Amino acid sequence: MAQIKVEKAKIDQKQTSLLVIGVFENEQDFSQSKELDPSVLMYIKAAIDNKDFRGTFGSSILVYTLGKGPMQKILALGLGKREKFTDEMARICAGKAAQKAKELGTREFSILQFSNLDEGLIEAMTEGIALALYSFDRYKAQDKETQRVEEVTVLINSDSPRFQMIAERASHVAEAVNFARDLGNLPPNDCPPAHLASVALSLAAEYGMKARVIDRYELENMGMGGIVAVGKGSNNPPKLIILEYTGAAAADARPYLLVGKAVTFDTGGISLKPGDKMDEMKFDKCGGCDVLAILRAVASMKLAVNVVGIVPSVENMPSSTSYRPGDIVRMYNGKTVEVLNTDAEGRMILADALAYGIATYNPKAVIDMATLTGAAIIALGANVAALIGNNKQLTDRVRRMAEKAGERMWDLPLYDEFHEQIKSPFADIKNVGGRPGGAITAAAFLSNFVTNVPWVHMDIAGTAWTQDGTYERSYNPKGATGFGIRTLVKLLMEEEKPQQQQQQQQPASQSSP
Ligand code: BES
Ligand code: MN
Ligand code: ZN
Repeated sequence: MAQIKVEKAKIDQKQTSLLVIGVFENEQDFSQSKELDPSVLMYIKAAIDNKDFRGTFGSSILVYTLGKGPMQKILALGLGKREKFTDEMARICAGKAAQKAKELGTREFSILQFSNLDEGLIEAMTEGIALALYSFDRYKAQDKETQRVEEVTVLINSDSPRFQMIAERASHVAEAVNFARDLGNLPPNDCPPAHLASVALSLAAEYGMKARVIDRYELENMGMGGIVAVGKGSNNPPKLIILEYTGAAAADARPYLLVGKAVTFDTGGISLKPGDKMDEMKFDKCGGCDVLAILRAVASMKLAVNVVGIVPSVENMPSSTSYRPGDIVRMYNGKTVEVLNTDAEGRMILADALAYGIATYNPKAVIDMATLTGAAIIALGANVAALIGNNKQLTDRVRRMAEKAGERMWDLPLYDEFHEQIKSPFADIKNVGGRPGGAITAAAFLSNFVTNVPWVHMDIAGTAWTQDGTYERSYNPKGATGFGIRTLVKLLMEEEKPQQQQQQQQPASQSSP
């Protein structure tokens, strides 16, 4: 990944092949323009005066300095109206700058802080750059040979080391997001459950985490009926992957438990999906990839928290050994499930992982991420993830973090009545609840495997990869997005802060997750 550093701006001295300057809409006096050689400034001013460039959001002009400054070129980048500028827009604009630099084939560029200096701005700019420079090119011969951007300097008006640290942390997080994208984008023929397992083992070795991979026969012996049922239709056997990161001052402090759905390919099984866009079901592993990436981020930043990641991984295939509609499966917690649709496989594997994780690790809170239902896309579209849980405080907290991270999430209610829809005449529950409220009945199903602990389920069906209805964002190249990672890493970073600080934010009487 490109190296991104922060430096006190001396733009009249900064040797660089490309200097990016943000310009707010209809503002003549763009930031630090005083330090630029007046003859360079002239070209940009002329473009502004001529109304060729007004600084509208997303517009830009490129100016050659022809030896009039230490920079070869200047890219003036429109930031839109100053009063509407947000961290998310900074992320998008910084991403645009990075894309332009890549198009120009430069190895290195510099970029001026877009607006008033604060931590949110530097974090957003760093993320925008690092995420936009991502490309998945390991299966392409030519793209590998093109020049990559390797070094970016963010020029700021302060020499406080705090901003260097913010950029470093944001780089760690962006690296984790790009790691998840790399895994998520892998084609299903190169990414069976065993591959994800081996990736998890390498992560554990690299970052000093504990890892365990549970194989098919052991899963059977342990009573993980859901994972075994879904996995048995494929020649690529299922794996239950567990990563444990211990960073809290008290090693035995209750951990956060993260569970991620990793269906390496979802054909629907015997309840086969239609062929249209079935290829996109290679992204059905993204929840699991995101969980592995969060553990990587947390470990690379050595956060002072304990986190356990559990990733149930299967391939959902139709075959003579597949589970069938009508099957009744006994799950890890002893409950029985009548299978009415083998395409509702995600909840089957998450259920075992949740029940096992909660029983084994006594977590202080549980968050699962899954491309679980098409219904979540119908409800909220392809740019907003659904949050459904059993604890308002935890759900609100995730939503607050999402807002800060520039990821959109909204909650759906888990009213008791939704449980009616998954009652079965033959077993404790059935695995589908019909079309109405499909994202919620899926969560109602999962809640049967969650006991007495704050839990929130994040349905990332619409947001885990760029698809029909995804808004263009410079920092989200085509394919897996790593959506949700930035939010949850933020949540774990907040957790890391000293205890008193947290208590000020929340009433002491409630046990807060
Ligand atoms: N992985 C899919 C959900 C999905 C579909 C995510 C499209 C993103 C885009 C999941 O396993 C699934 O097939 N869900 C079914 C559930 C239904 C059978 C109750 C669905 O949403 O149609
Ligand atoms: Mn499915
Ligand atoms: Zn699925």
